[in-house]
Amino acid sequence: MKAKTTLVLNQNLVKLLRLLQDGQYHDGTSIGKTLNITRGGVWKLIKKLEQYQVAFTSMKGKGYQLNEPLILLDGEKIQNSLGKIPLKIEVLEKVDSTNQYLKLSQAPIEEVRVCLSEMQTKGRGRLNRSWYSPFGKNIYFSMRYPFQKDLSELSGLSLVVALSVAHTLNTIIGFQEKIKLKWPNDVIVQGEKMAGILIEIQAESNGFSQVVIGIGINVNETDADQNNITQPWSSLKKITGINYDRNGICAELISKLLSYLQRFSVSGLSDFNTEWQERDLLFGKAVELMSGNQPYSGIAQGIDAQGHLVLKLADGSLKGFSSGDTSLRKQ
Ligand code: BTN
Repeated sequence: MKAKTTLVLNQNLVKLLRLLQDGQYHDGTSIGKTLNITRGGVWKLIKKLEQYQVAFTSMKGKGYQLNEPLILLDGEKIQNSLGKIPLKIEVLEKVDSTNQYLKLSQAPIEEVRVCLSEMQTKGRGRLNRSWYSPFGKNIYFSMRYPFQKDLSELSGLSLVVALSVAHTLNTIIGFQEKIKLKWPNDVIVQGEKMAGILIEIQAESNGFSQVVIGIGINVNETDADQNNITQPWSSLKKITGINYDRNGICAELISKLLSYLQRFSVSGLSDFNTEWQERDLLFGKAVELMSGNQPYSGIAQGIDAQGHLVLKLADGSLKGFSSGDTSLRKQ
């Protein structure tokens, strides 16, 4: 039988992980009793943990113990911390990509929707890259947001989203560590990438532009998990040593993101100039940029009114770039 690519969060898995949360051993019989399931049912759940590479120890006669705390995502908990904000949050156990899931959603277009998943099997990044998305570690978040704007008015949106993520992360770890942004929207801490953003714009209809905003934040990822990531990366846990309950971070992210999107809808990118300047990692630096197949190098001068990156080229001319892959030139 073909494995399903989209799974809603299995409530027995949630209960099992809540039980194991105390860091103690629990044997199969007591797990079965507490969850009101058979030994076979318990065995299936344990297999699921193995398949998802959740680190646990099993000892004959004692049962199972989690190696490190794992609190699963909980849509109700997130919704409760947000209060009365009208929003539909779906939490999945597994999906190919949360962005793809929302792009295919049939829900009314004027509704704001959020999709979170514990893992992605085909998480995608910018420039056709993939996004490493192991189970239970990080945040894989997408929001479908209806703008009453046409597509041409949405340039700069990805920078505004990056600002909202940077602000969220600064709220979580404190402001002593300034989160920087590498144009257009890499979220960088101590020179390493902590979060990435992929915005996919769908066709306009009835005066709305549908935008799917995908955000991946490395939260409880640690050195042990770094296979599959090709660039220097960081995580909240790497910076602070804390194992986070991701639900609080998601609530903070949603509330900040909505307020930034609202401001962007009303005032556009110009309202965020100062904030961008404060976080702009590239400003004044020697930068290399691949735009299509064409390499450019120059000194970064910040952004223009459309959010394009402005480079001062070797001949002294200024050139704006609407997209591309940037890196700091090695001195
Ligand atoms: C990048 O920096 O390349 C962007 C990464 C974006 C990853 C997120 S995770 C949630 C959402 N779903 C996806 O498939 N991608 C985005």
